Order: sequence, then C-alpha cells, then structure tokens
Amino acid sequence: MTDLHHHGDAELAPGLVDLAVNVRADAPPAWLRAVLHASIDAASSYPDPAPARTAVAAAHGRPVDEVLLTAGAAETFVLLARALRPRLAAVVHPSFTEPEAALDAAGHPVTRVVLRAADGWRLDPAAVPEEADLVVVGNPTNPTSVLHPAADLVDLARPGRVLVVDEAFADTVPGEPESLADRRDVPGLVVVRSLTKTWGLAGLRVGYALGSAALVARLAAHQPRWPVSTPALAALVACSTPAARAEAEAGARDLDRWRAALLAGLPPAAVVEGDPRSSFVLLRVPDGVRVRQALRDSGWAVRRGDTFPGLTGDHLRVAVRRPEVTAAFTAALTDVLVSAPNPEEVP
Ligand SMILES: Cc1ncc(COP(=O)(O)O)c(C=O)c1O
Repeated sequence: MTDLHHHGDAELAPGLVDLAVNVRADAPPAWLRAVLHASIDAASSYPDPAPARTAVAAAHGRPVDEVLLTAGAAETFVLLARALRPRLAAVVHPSFTEPEAALDAAGHPVTRVVLRAADGWRLDPAAVPEEADLVVVGNPTNPTSVLHPAADLVDLARPGRVLVVDEAFADTVPGEPESLADRRDVPGLVVVRSLTKTWGLAGLRVGYALGSAALVARLAAHQPRWPVSTPALAALVACSTPAARAEAEAGARDLDRWRAALLAGLPPAAVVEGDPRSSFVLLRVPDGVRVRQALRDSGWAVRRGDTFPGLTGDHLRVAVRRPEVTAAFTAALTDVLVSAPNPEEVP
C-alpha cells in the first residue's frame, strides 16, 4: 500500500547530497534571515496577521478577505478536508500525497485520477469524473514537473465544485504563465501557495490560500487561533514586495538554465518523463531500486518514485541544483547505470 506520508526528507541521511527534497539547497537569503531574526523581538506579543494579509492580497491584486494565511501549504489541505463535505473528491495523480491523506483522514470518499506517462503526464480534464464536487490538482505538478495549461484547469471548474490548484511550485516557473492565483472569475477555485520552496523556509511553515471570501471564511473557521507565527508573518510581508518577487523571478530563470544543464548531462539510460518545468525532473531508469541504492552508496539522495500513485520503483525524482552539483551527479548516475549487473550473471 502507498505510504501517503512518505516525502523526500525521509530519503536524507548525514553525508548524502540532497537531491531528494525540492526546497532550494542554500539557506534563505541574508536579507530574509535578517527579517526573521528581527521578528523574534516582537515574539512576546500574539501575532498580528493584518499586514501580511494586506501584502499578499496586494501582490495578487485581490481583496484581503480572499487571502487565508496558513502554516504552510500543507495546512490548507487539512482545512479543506475539515471544512468541506465532498460527496466525491477526485485527486489527480501522480502528485503530492498530503491532500489525499487529509481527505482520507477526514473519512471522505476519494477517487484517484491517474494520468499517463504515454500522455507526458499531461492533464486530461475529461478524465475527472463529472460527479466529483472537490478536485485537487498540482500545477506545476510534483513529482512530474509538468506545467498544465491554465485553460485546462479552468475547464475543471463547475458551479457546486471546489477546484483546488496546488501552486506550491508556481514561483519556480518564470513569469508564472499558467498560475490561477490572480483569477477571481473561476467558480469554486482555491489556489494554494507556499513560501517553502523558493525561499528555503520548509521549517518555518508558511503559505497561503487564495479563493472567494466565502470559501476563505469557511476554511478559516477550522483554523486554530493564531495559526501563523510572527516570524512566518514577517516572511510573508518581506517576500511579497516587488523586490522580493523580482528576486524569485530571477531565481526561476536560473532554475531554467540549471535544469537544461541537468537534462543535457543525463546518460541515455535515464529517460526524462514529461516536459519538466519546475525545480525537479522525473526520471525512469532500468532497475530503479538498485540504481537508487547505488546512488546512495556513492553519496547521493534522490527521491523514490514508487510512493506516488501511478509511479513505479523505476521512477526517480531529482532536484535541479547548481550546474557544478548537477555535473557531479550526472557523472555518478552514469557510473551507476554503466555498472549495471549483467543479467546473465545474476543467479
Ligand atoms: C506540491 C506540494 N504542495 C505542497 C507542499 C507542502 O508545502 P508546505 O511546506 O508549504 O506545507 C509540498 C511539499 O513537498 C509539495 O510538494
């Protein structure tokens, strides 16, 4: 049975280079660390979310009451599961598994819509059952790195249906061309965002959701009091400024170049699945369980694929890193694939 709570952090161990977790490898930038340190001085007061809510709303051109601040994107999935009573929830896979885990934990019926490698893992809106009144899809999708067209996502919206688009990785794509974060005209839309990946803030637990004021209020009713800490609120304000957004955009353009270097350096036996657009790529390799172990033995942690519904032990998710790290990784992967045991010698 699939372990829906398995994530890349479980693949890490001391001494391994981390290509398993898709958070930026270096610490948050110095200016952001300074903001976080300074925020501790205000930690004796209860947090005031108003400035952060205003900043996020302004960044997305939305009214304040369409913004829900959360302790990471992961919190929104639990809030949705607690606040809604779906007759049928459809989760598009392969994808981040916490939304399904949250729906399961709340006892809601879930159907999996499993996309196909043969289609490049692209979304087929017709595959989502009409009767689903809650639909969850990631864009760009973890682990396939595929960026679905905004029009295909909008096609999934219906009156009476909540459409959740997990955009935790949206800011890894230059210009965010397929983001729905600023769209106020799509019925039932909830866009989930995170500061985790781009800003290296996995441990801070900070994100937000965007949707109609009515939906935001329904979700907020299930939050504990003061769900987002003072440092996390300070990060939201600091990362919503035009300068910070420009820095994120420049980082996304770097990622594009670094990903191209990774793709160019892969050995032929490592097949790239889908058209990767985010900060990671999905590979299929022969004898993936052996390959992953051999990579670990030579100092590299990559994310196993087989805990994602729809993937197999031959799938590996690899984070995009700086070209010098990538060059060392592709050399190690080439060695591992070249040294594959001859099947005739295997007893
Ligand atoms: C697609 C996706 N959405 C959401 C999350 C959770 O993000 P956060 O750290 O903001 O809870 C992750 C984390 O791996 C993810 O991969």
